Amino acid sequence: MLLLEKIGMKRIGLLGCGSIGSQIAIAIDTGKIPAQLTHIYDVDKKKSELLVSKLQQKPEIVENAHLLSSNPLDLVVEAASQEAVNDNALSILQNRKDLLIMSSGALLDESIFEIISDACKEFKKTVYLPSGAISGIDALKSVKNELDSVVLITTKHPDSLRGAPFFEQFKQNLDEIKEPSTIFEGTASEAVRLFPKNVNVSALLSLVGLGSHETIVKIVVDPNTTKNTHVITSSGKFGKLTTTIENVPDENNPRTSRLAILSAIETIRSICTDEIKIGT
Ligand SMILES: NC(=O)c1ccc[n+]([C@@H]2O[C@H](COP(=O)([O-])OP(=O)(O)OC[C@H]3O[C@@H](n4cnc5c(N)ncnc54)[C@H](O)[C@@H]3O)[C@@H](O)[C@H]2O)c1
Repeated sequence: MLLLEKIGMKRIGLLGCGSIGSQIAIAIDTGKIPAQLTHIYDVDKKKSELLVSKLQQKPEIVENAHLLSSNPLDLVVEAASQEAVNDNALSILQNRKDLLIMSSGALLDESIFEIISDACKEFKKTVYLPSGAISGIDALKSVKNELDSVVLITTKHPDSLRGAPFFEQFKQNLDEIKEPSTIFEGTASEAVRLFPKNVNVSALLSLVGLGSHETIVKIVVDPNTTKNTHVITSSGKFGKLTTTIENVPDENNPRTSRLAILSAIETIRSICTDEIKIGT
């Protein structure tokens, strides 16, 4: 079916047609998100073509990321990689489009954070970072000026971590791990550099407390788990907050949790809907 313009609906462009991007596109196509997906781009054109083949209302595949935001869109959704954020966020905002970022680890690079933050103000545009695969961001936002410490313990199956740059640097053999073992402990900035596709949630936690402290991250490998588990413990003048979430991994990409996809879909749905907004 050709894409017919629906008056009043927000127009969305998608950057990255993998696990998250495809499920966002399907949520738009099936009406769960009241919007129109008009343009898509993936560095791997086959991914874009496969996605278009699954959709009733066919978006246009553009030839490069810059062509996404030069079209008359309201919102660009990034579900690609930190590199895609580094290369495209500024031009998207300069083209006066709002931007939703899934690869939130990119913002822990101070220069990228500053460029994006300044561009939001200069071009009067909004960047959205969904809560992703964790719970408790609403409360942490409220107490951000009273936080003393935030610790994230992430437990994953070895398959969720394979291929991360950490293993090139530290020569840890994942197949030799037979029981739950902490393989990394450090700041969120180090975690997103060494595990760029695995711990975006630590970036979100750090960004909430930006300026006061850095989130401490522990990564535990458990060959017997089927879940991506995040335990967050925060404390400060406000009291103490502990949340635990046991996430089911996405069936197409074990690095990505089902909740991260649902969180993105809910954020976009809320942006596209005039309604009572619940939560902080
Ligand atoms: N915020 C969160 O809680 C959270 C949770 C899970 C994943 N993520 C992040 O979201 C992003 C997407 O995750 P996914 O599970 O869909 O990954 P995926 O690997 O399934 O899909 C990513 C897609 O983006 C494409 N891509 C990569 N770099 C690109 C670029 N520079 N330009 C255009 N296309 C590019 C790839 O070809 C691929 O099709 C990743 O960066 C991931 O780390 C965030």
